[in-house]
Formats: sequence, C-alpha cells, structure tokens
Amino acid sequence: MTTTPVGIHDLSFATTHYALDHAVLAERLGVDRDKFYLGIGQERMSVAAADEDIVTIAAAAAQPILERHGADNIRTVLLATETGVDQSKAAALYLHSLIGLPNAARVVELKQACYGGTAGLAFAAGLIARDPSQRVLVIAADIAKYELDTPGEPTQGAAAVAMLVTANPAILALDPISGLYSADIMDFWRPNYRSEAIVDGKTSVNAYQKAAQEAWSDYRRQGGRELSEFAAFCYHQPFTKMAYKAHRHLLESQGHTAEAADLEAAIGATTTYNRTVGNSYTASLYLGLASLLDHADDLTGKALAMISYGSGSVAEFFSGTVQPGYRAHLRTEANQAAISSREMLDYDHYRALHEAVLPTDGAYHAMAEETRRPFRLAAMSGHKRIYEAR
Ligand code: CAA
Repeated sequence: MTTTPVGIHDLSFATTHYALDHAVLAERLGVDRDKFYLGIGQERMSVAAADEDIVTIAAAAAQPILERHGADNIRTVLLATETGVDQSKAAALYLHSLIGLPNAARVVELKQACYGGTAGLAFAAGLIARDPSQRVLVIAADIAKYELDTPGEPTQGAAAVAMLVTANPAILALDPISGLYSADIMDFWRPNYRSEAIVDGKTSVNAYQKAAQEAWSDYRRQGGRELSEFAAFCYHQPFTKMAYKAHRHLLESQGHTAEAADLEAAIGATTTYNRTVGNSYTASLYLGLASLLDHADDLTGKALAMISYGSGSVAEFFSGTVQPGYRAHLRTEANQAAISSREMLDYDHYRALHEAVLPTDGAYHAMAEETRRPFRLAAMSGHKRIYEAR
C-alpha cells in the first residue's frame, strides 16, 4: 500500500527585538566568557522587549507562511508553548485578528515543556493522513527565563517557529515511524505562580541523554532506520553543547566511538541559529532544523534524525527525508535578518527587562513602544492583552 507523504511544507521563524551577548553576562557574573562561548556553546541570547510575548513572536513567525500559501484549508492550528499567556484561552486565538486565521478551524494550545511542538507535528501528521486535502499550522513559541545569577541564566533565549504541515510537502517528508519515551521526573518545571523555571541542571542533562537513548531504542523496535542512514542529527538544544553531549552518549551507547569530527559532521550545521538565539524551548528543535537546511550542503533525498526532549519528561526520536527542490522553499535570508536585526542590550537594560512584571490590577496600562518587530503587546486593559500590528 502506498501512502501519501506528509510533512513540513514551509517553515518560518521569528525572534525577539533584543539580544544579550554572553560576554556581557560573563563579565557581570565574574566567569570566563569561554565557559559560555565554548563550555555550553552559547554566544548570545534573544531577550523579549516589554511589549513582546509568545503571541507577538508566534504571529511574526506565522505571518509569512499565510502570505505565501494563504489560509485556505488550514483547519487546525496547534500552538505549543510553555510560556502561555492565559490559563484558559489558547494563545493562537489572538492570531485570528493579528494575521487572519480562518474561522473554520480548531485552534488549540499544547504543553509538555520543550516537547510540545513535536506533539503538534505528530498530531498534524495524523490529521493529514486522515484527510490529505487539509493543512495544519503548527507553531512552537517560547521565551526561556531562569532566575538571575543562577546557572540556568546563560541558557535563556526566545523564538517562535511556524510550520505548515501538508501532504506532499516541499521540504521534509516525515517517516511514519517514531520512537517514544516518557517518565515522571522533576528535572525542570515551572509552577503556575512563577514566571521563571526551576531546574536541577545536572539531573536534566542526564535525564535528556537517557530519554534520547530510550526513544532511539523504541524507534529501532518500531522498525526505524539505522544510525548510519542519517545525514544529520537534529537535537533539541537548550544550549548547543547539549546536542553534542547527547549524540556522543547515543553513539557510545550503541558501541560506536564518537570522534570530534564525526560529531561536528552530524550536529554542526544544526547549531548556528541556536548558538545566537539561545534556548527557545518548544521551538529549539525546529530552529535547529532551519539552521541545518540553511547551512548544510545539498541534502536532497537525505534522511534526517530529529530528537525531541521535553523535561518532565517526554522524548521522541523521529525522522524524515529532505525533498527534491527544497532549497527553493527555504527562508534563509529572512531567518538571518531576524537574527542580525536584533538590538544588543547592555546589562542594566537586560536586568530591568528580566525583573519587569506585567500589571495585574485590571486597569488600563499602555506598554511603552520598544519592539520594531511586526506585532506588539500594546496595552493591558480589563485583564486583557491588547495586541497591535506595527
Ligand atoms: N572554557 C571552556 N569551557 C569551560 C570553561 C572555560 N573557561 N569553564 C567551564 N567550562 C565548561 C565545563 O567544563 C562544562 O563542560 P562539560 O559540560 O563538557 O563538562 C561546561 O563549560 C559547563 O560548565 P558547568 O557544568 O560548570 O556549568 P554550570 O553547572 O554552571 O551550568 C547547566 C550548566 C547545569 C547545564 C546550566 O546551564 C543549567 O542549569 N541550564 C538549564 C538546564 C538545561 O538547559 N538543561 C538541559 C537539559 S533539560 C532540557 O533540555 C529541557 C530544557 O530545554 C530546559
């Protein structure tokens, strides 16, 4: 039986107005900046302006997709985030008025730490397998925030990735096989009353590696490809060094040696964007995919491994084949412009943004205009977020 291929037809990303260089943070914390540049593999991190949140960056990521493909037959919109703006209303509903989503659609928010976007992709593939005429918009958007002056602080960041998932995709056709692993573990979490995540850093690194290995084992049990078949391995990147660590762990667990050059060939091109954007939680894996597609030599017909991890925890090892002609559909120039156009922060401004809290009294509060991105949080009024296009 032949089945219609399903996968990623278009992929667009957005990030915040500001960024902080890790050299600034290193100086403030009194550590060698190479601990960040080399030790964790991070050079800069995106920082949200006071008038940005996951809705504004999600809208900025999704708008170019609707401009290119229209909104017809997008019957499902799945927005994955762990930086939700409301306990009840799905963040993607704000996108109706900002970018013009169709009303004949189901619009839902998904959460499972950094894994949520992958759940969205899997659910989208299932819906399209049922009816290949439908298209699903999957958006992963997050702003990673840890307490100031903690080990997690240099692993902050922010981005949104929007993907149009369709039958006969132009970029990546997903294999129908996935490897899964879930376990109840407290490595990273954020209680509802906190704006910053709590993390047990070392536990989280070990839990990630174990979960990736277990998901790989399940992928093989389900009949998945051999390790040697993959042209590249795209990992969730809380910091880019984590992808190298996890891949080394996976190779060694399978009895392979992990030479530095082999690791670089397998991982290197996936890290360019994450190295300067920082952790974008649900979006991070897909930012890695964008980076790979934008920077690697021709990948036509090649198999890619995708390894998703969300603390708490859920991991998925899945794969896909890069489609002929994919390069004509990439957004390399826009992706690079989103990164290079960020305004660099000094430490005091970064700290003020980090410490700022939104008013909770229900009165009208206009937000000072900071971001130059396409959408902004203009005001809070009556406990509602008021957004505007710029
Ligand atoms: N030059 C070069 N390298 C240096 C250096 C220097 N001057 N100084 C230190 N290093 C190296 C260290 O040797 C170490 O390398 P290895 O990991 O290869 O041993 C690396 O820099 C980091 O140093 P530390 O281990 O001392 O760093 P730390 O303890 O201060 O913080 C961390 C590391 C615990 C991961 C911390 O960043 C953290 O808590 N991050 C948040 C949690 C996280 O990202 N977890 C990842 C897995 S969970 C997940 O993936 C979900 C998610 O998105 C959160």
